[in-house]
Amino acid sequence: MQELLEKVNKNRLPKHIAIIMDGNGRWAEERGEDRLFGHFHGVESVRNIVEGCAELGIQYLTLYAFSTENWDRPQQEVDGLMTLLVETIRKEVPVLNKNNIKLHVIGDIDMLPELAKAELKEAIAMTANNTGLNLIMALSYSSRWEIINAVKNIGLDIKAGKIDANNITQQTFEQYLATKNFPDPELLIRTSGEYRISNFLLYQIAYAELHFTNTCWPDFKKESLYEALIDYQNRERRFGKTGKQIQEETTTKISQ
Ligand code: IPE
Ligand code: IPE
Ligand code: MG
Repeated sequence: MQELLEKVNKNRLPKHIAIIMDGNGRWAEERGEDRLFGHFHGVESVRNIVEGCAELGIQYLTLYAFSTENWDRPQQEVDGLMTLLVETIRKEVPVLNKNNIKLHVIGDIDMLPELAKAELKEAIAMTANNTGLNLIMALSYSSRWEIINAVKNIGLDIKAGKIDANNITQQTFEQYLATKNFPDPELLIRTSGEYRISNFLLYQIAYAELHFTNTCWPDFKKESLYEALIDYQNRERRFGKTGKQIQEETTTKISQ
């Protein structure tokens, strides 16, 4: 693991990593266990990856923990996930504080059970003064929910005379998204061998580098994170320009 970590260029880290934590259910089923057993072990990976990101000095980590569509799962699984959420937050707040981590939540929080809402609110308040890693949990989140919500609020603000429809820019629109206080992720990771986005940060990942791995989330630990970072650092991020332009820009930057 140490060897892998040494291969990660500490000067070229993404500011923001987003992860679709997938494969808990299959991981458990492969072991003849209930799906909830997989979610339970998934929490271990959350802990490990949050720690790994904090150690590296990553500024933002967004974890897709529960989607709007996940409400359609069997009630027993939804209830189990909500209980796990409440218990985990309760246990982890001291660890977050110890590691200077600030918790944020994005998503349709009103959908969550009262107890989960209350625990989250308290955890957010208790970590509000931390200045290290920003840990953003996407809960009851979906990008289409977020975008429609933004459009509704923009409509209301136009009607109230607060903004002028003719002056709406990308920056204006971004202020209405749940992620308004965070930069776009440069790296998006999805575990468990699924090659899709499942309604996650559709607007924000316009130029993210995508890293897919067959590893299921409960097995995704720091080593896998370092592999994803090395993969990311081998990409050429062109933003519509040519490779030649990017190489020239890099040479100029280095020589400055
Ligand atoms: C990801 O694992 C966790 C959540 C969506 C809550 P899954 O529960 O989707 O696991 P698989 O994809 O069925 O294996
Ligand atoms: C995406 O995983 C949502 C989370 C990881 C929370 P899913 O397992 O719900 O996605 P689909 O249904 O396979 O696309
Ligand atoms: Mg899944």
